[in-house]
Amino acid sequence: MNSWSADSWRSKPLLQLPDYPDQAKLHQVERELAGMPPLVFAGEVNELRHRLADATAGRAFLLQGGDCAESFREFSADNIRDTFKVMMQMAVVLTFGAACQVIKVGRLAGQFAKPRTTETETIEGVELPIYRGDIINGIEFTKASRVPDPQRMLQAYNQAAATLNLLRAFAQGGLASLEQVHAWNLDFISSSSQSDQYRHMADRIDEALAFMEACGIFAEHSATIRETAFYTSHEALLLPYEQALTRRDSLSGNWYDCSAHMLWVGDRTRQLDGGHVEFVRGVQNPIGLKAGPTLAADDLIQLIDRINPHNLAGKLNVIVRMGADRVEQYLPPLLRAVKREGRHVLWSCDPMHGNTYTAANGYKTREVAKILQEVEQFFAAHNAEGTYAGGVHFEMTGQNVTECLGGASAVTEDHLGNRYHTHCDPRLNADQALELAFLIAETLKKCRKLSSA
Ligand code: PEP
Ligand code: CO
Repeated sequence: MNSWSADSWRSKPLLQLPDYPDQAKLHQVERELAGMPPLVFAGEVNELRHRLADATAGRAFLLQGGDCAESFREFSADNIRDTFKVMMQMAVVLTFGAACQVIKVGRLAGQFAKPRTTETETIEGVELPIYRGDIINGIEFTKASRVPDPQRMLQAYNQAAATLNLLRAFAQGGLASLEQVHAWNLDFISSSSQSDQYRHMADRIDEALAFMEACGIFAEHSATIRETAFYTSHEALLLPYEQALTRRDSLSGNWYDCSAHMLWVGDRTRQLDGGHVEFVRGVQNPIGLKAGPTLAADDLIQLIDRINPHNLAGKLNVIVRMGADRVEQYLPPLLRAVKREGRHVLWSCDPMHGNTYTAANGYKTREVAKILQEVEQFFAAHNAEGTYAGGVHFEMTGQNVTECLGGASAVTEDHLGNRYHTHCDPRLNADQALELAFLIAETLKKCRKLSSA
């Protein structure tokens, strides 16, 4: 294998990257970013890798979630807080329901670049370059806004830094304390059946905390009760940005992509000899690899060996996104090949990206029922093969949006236009996300019982 450097991706075939018309400006922005402080630190990245190793071995569970695409317009403290609260709710439901440690990783603080299926978009006979995420160009349908602008990388960096700052404050400053378990419930879902179920569980947690206090274990003296670890992740798509934030750790001499704790390679950019796989193979961060129905078992093994040549547990997370009707056919061969070859893989389920379709009224959407079906098939395949279903990956928001269909709140196609705010794919709202968490907790509990029996 050739030697790696932070820019060795540049000599490889590159898909999904923008053509910046102003190369001088691009280079200036790259230099500026390279001089900015890192967003995450090597020690945190290593800690996440160790925790993901636990999930790989079935001792913990990965919950990864957040926006499909963060945007400059929807950037606000309230949005970040509400997404954080839903993640905390889902995590506590899974922890309590399945007695399993949950590792929280947000699609947040850097999830700005989107791979696209087409190069252009046509509206009423006008054809313009496609929108590629706020870090690249603008969503407005005008010629000027669709020109890739390197300056956007600086705005994305600043927004990521501010987001991460707030997340760290929430995680360590009191909002994540188990004493706040009732306060994570968002007002607008307070009347749903999930909400009742959640309150009931929160009451039981309160009782447990009161019991522990009676035994002399106080939240104010216990960081485990009072704080949480909340990690960030995004797709490593815009490689000039990722390279500019890649730094050598002075203690170990190893390279880290300091734009997030975890990065993933998308289903459209996972070519073995492509630039994206080249970039991620050289950094110490845990790496996600999206696996859609076109990924053959042999190719998966080659990709695993390229990205994780020392077969470290916790380094590689294969994020399966087949579509509810395809899991049964396409997942077992991948599980068998990885098991046969003895590779350490954390398997997680993205039940979103294989279940997207366009409704008759033109909105891109997903059905909650299909999402749940894909998760259940994913667990079933692991049970059958004797492997661990180690996590889930959701596109969701703490906002009361109407982007996905169904769930207990019964969003129908007619409702989609009411609050459809996503900049890319349809997200679960808080109500739908919580409902899924309860259902997954049940499945997880059964599976962990089976595997320990
Ligand atoms: C995504 O996670 O937003 C995405 C585009 O996924 P995939 O690469 O699996 O299509
Ligand atoms: Co998406």
